[in-house]
Amino acid sequence: MPMSTETSLAQIGVVGLAVMGSNLARNFARNGNTVAVYNRSTDKTDKLISDYATDGNFIPSKTIEDFVASLEKPRRAIIMVQAGHATDAVINQLAEVMEEGDIIIDGGNALYTDTVRREREIAARGLHFVGAGISGGEEGALNGPSIMPGGPKESWDALGPLLESIAAVVDGTPCVTHIGPDGAGHFVKMVHNGIEYADMQVIGEAYQLLRFGADMSPAEIADVFAEWNKGDLDSYLIEITAEVLRQVDAETGKPLVDVILDAAGQKGTGRWTVKEALDLGVPTTAIGEAVFARALSSSLGQRAAAQGNLPTGSLKTFGELGLDKAEFIEDVRRALYASKLVAYSQGFDEIKAGSDEHQWDVDPRDLATIWRGGCIIRAKFLNRIVEAYDNNAELPSLLLDPYFKGELEGLIDPWRKVVIYATQLGLPAPVFTSSLSYYDSLRAERLPAAIIQGQRDFFGAHTYQRIDKEGTFHTLWSGDRSEIES
Ligand code: 6PG
Repeated sequence: MPMSTETSLAQIGVVGLAVMGSNLARNFARNGNTVAVYNRSTDKTDKLISDYATDGNFIPSKTIEDFVASLEKPRRAIIMVQAGHATDAVINQLAEVMEEGDIIIDGGNALYTDTVRREREIAARGLHFVGAGISGGEEGALNGPSIMPGGPKESWDALGPLLESIAAVVDGTPCVTHIGPDGAGHFVKMVHNGIEYADMQVIGEAYQLLRFGADMSPAEIADVFAEWNKGDLDSYLIEITAEVLRQVDAETGKPLVDVILDAAGQKGTGRWTVKEALDLGVPTTAIGEAVFARALSSSLGQRAAAQGNLPTGSLKTFGELGLDKAEFIEDVRRALYASKLVAYSQGFDEIKAGSDEHQWDVDPRDLATIWRGGCIIRAKFLNRIVEAYDNNAELPSLLLDPYFKGELEGLIDPWRKVVIYATQLGLPAPVFTSSLSYYDSLRAERLPAAIIQGQRDFFGAHTYQRIDKEGTFHTLWSGDRSEIES
């Protein structure tokens, strides 16, 4: 029999009690739910009960059978173990003891195609499977994450109130909603993370320009970011960047940012977002550049070989550019804002394309609503995205929303200037730069794609279409160069 801190059955169970799982279990308990808990090795379960029993009612179990027996029906168990094989193993264990109508929820960062497969397999066994993206890191899991559950609608009916009880709340609205069937929840969580990568990278690019362009200290830049956090850029990531920049290394007395190795890691969700975007044919250039920037930063051998060893051309210093520091800071802020707009716009494009492809019917407005709190990309600016979709649910691009278009009026010139300055200073700004190119491509009347079509037709008879009449055409390049309809 499971040991119990209370006699009734649990409304929810958590399997996997590393920090995320344990914090999620505590969050459920603190919000009045009785929580069944299980971990493969009992030390983590024991620690949770000994350290946090006062958070509420837990029912700890030593075996998966006891764990399942301690849940009320329909049984609801959230798995918080490492994505991949560990998740499959736990799903199987649970499925063997669970009964028809019970719900298995995977709260990890699973690849959405795995979620689709798992739901199919689990449904065949009469159970429900819900892939739920959970964002907010360890602190969010404890105090209120943003939750993106997919899976069948019936599961949402049984799960919704429980998830609402632990989610972050913004303006009275819990940051959780049913995203759509099967893999929809994990798909949007993947894109959330892709946007997170781009958001982090644009902040990094702004830092780089202020630090090595305007020669500002990390502490000074921290003040600038804290100031930015009071305006359009108000967001969790800007806020924590200011804190990181203020941190001094106890050992050396230097700013911590100067002693951290500048090689960014990645667990894969950003990369997945880009791979998926490639398959869907959606240009998520900002996310792509952010993923590549991390990869380049980690290519330490290649970087060491290139450092001080490649021609720079005639660069200018900040002084030589004759820039006013306060103006430069404001221009960089605007370039960051504009690039961030592009990143979000592209991320929402990918979500729409994924939703159309899989017939998930994801509502971008709902998504923007639940990203306003709890998650890593939470930002005031998401309110504007909600309004944009309120005004026009079929917006062809977020950039075309009247409010954002108005913002772009004021951002475009500083953005162009900053891209030029970065080039003249020789400072890398891949997302600022590529986002501007994306923007100019999007609004261009003619793109060089006509040349590419001509080339393709020349070497491979791939054919082209014309702007002035229907049909598919080919020029007889190796013949008399007349055009035929094909
Ligand atoms: C979140 C985060 C979280 C995590 C990712 C990204 O939404 O809470 O996105 O899922 O930080 O694992 O990590 P990497 O930067 O290592 O890919």
